[in-house]
Amino acid sequence: MGLFGFTNRLVQMIDILKNEIKIKNRRGCKYRCHIISGSYGFLFSLEKTMKKHENLFITIEGGEGSGKTTQSFLLKKYLEDSGYEVLLTREPGGTVLAENIRDILLSPNLNLIALSELFLLEAARAQHIKNLILPALKKGKIVICDRFIDSTVAYQGYGRKLDLQLINSLNLVASFGLIPILTIYIDVIPSKGLEIAKKNNSKVYNACGDRIESESMQFHNDVRKGYIEQARKYPKRIKVIKSQVTLDRTHALIKNIVGAVL
Ligand SMILES: Nc1ncnc2c1ncn2[C@@H]1O[C@H](COP(=O)(O)OP(=O)(O)OP(=O)(O)O)[C@@H](O)[C@H]1O
Ligand SMILES: [Mg+2]
Repeated sequence: MGLFGFTNRLVQMIDILKNEIKIKNRRGCKYRCHIISGSYGFLFSLEKTMKKHENLFITIEGGEGSGKTTQSFLLKKYLEDSGYEVLLTREPGGTVLAENIRDILLSPNLNLIALSELFLLEAARAQHIKNLILPALKKGKIVICDRFIDSTVAYQGYGRKLDLQLINSLNLVASFGLIPILTIYIDVIPSKGLEIAKKNNSKVYNACGDRIESESMQFHNDVRKGYIEQARKYPKRIKVIKSQVTLDRTHALIKNIVGAVL
């Protein structure tokens, strides 16, 4: 093989390697390979890094006191222990502005009408997606979000009876088209979940809980119906689990489901 043939072969080999590295990185490979090429040759260096995972956006959904926050923390820890970089965030919230909106949304006695509630939620979402979630995904982090678009469908659509088409359109605009690759819906009987949630929040608000928790039992049953119908509509994305007797058992179910998308 002449010098020209040898150089061509070398260029081909580098291209094949680069492609392989891209594929491995997408799968969250333990090592990243840097190719440093120069006029005198090239050098490979293997560098141990945190596992990266492009576009892995997971949301945790459920009614009041279903265990979303607890399970989100447990999942974050499990993924970090497995070597992944993880951002755990929540809706409404995640940025200073969105956390301020959250405070408004949860404060009782504001006489907030349903439509204003929807717009506030979507404003918080747009801010959150643009300033926190998209940059983290770009860096290759796995993003876990405690509540997301399905909460809006369940609470403002089925709970408040706002138009579902309007909600879906606003959800799409506010999330810049970002849809989770996986959503875990933790199903709990509303009366049971509310009892737990109100006990937890009674120190911050009052015995009736925050503005949403203090809604009627009918409202919470409608929200649950909304989640169940969403899960039926998007069975590939939304996986339903029943809240288990212990946190560990619920966590084990979640680990299994998440394992399938890693
Ligand atoms: N399966 C479970 N078994 C026992 N305790 C649980 C279970 N799930 C949640 N809990 C407990 O219930 C409480 C509420 O859980 P958590 O705050 O995670 O729920 P949440 O869905 O985030 O609630 P909220 O709607 O108020 O945000 C916590 O004290 C948690 O330890
Ligand atoms: Mg919570």
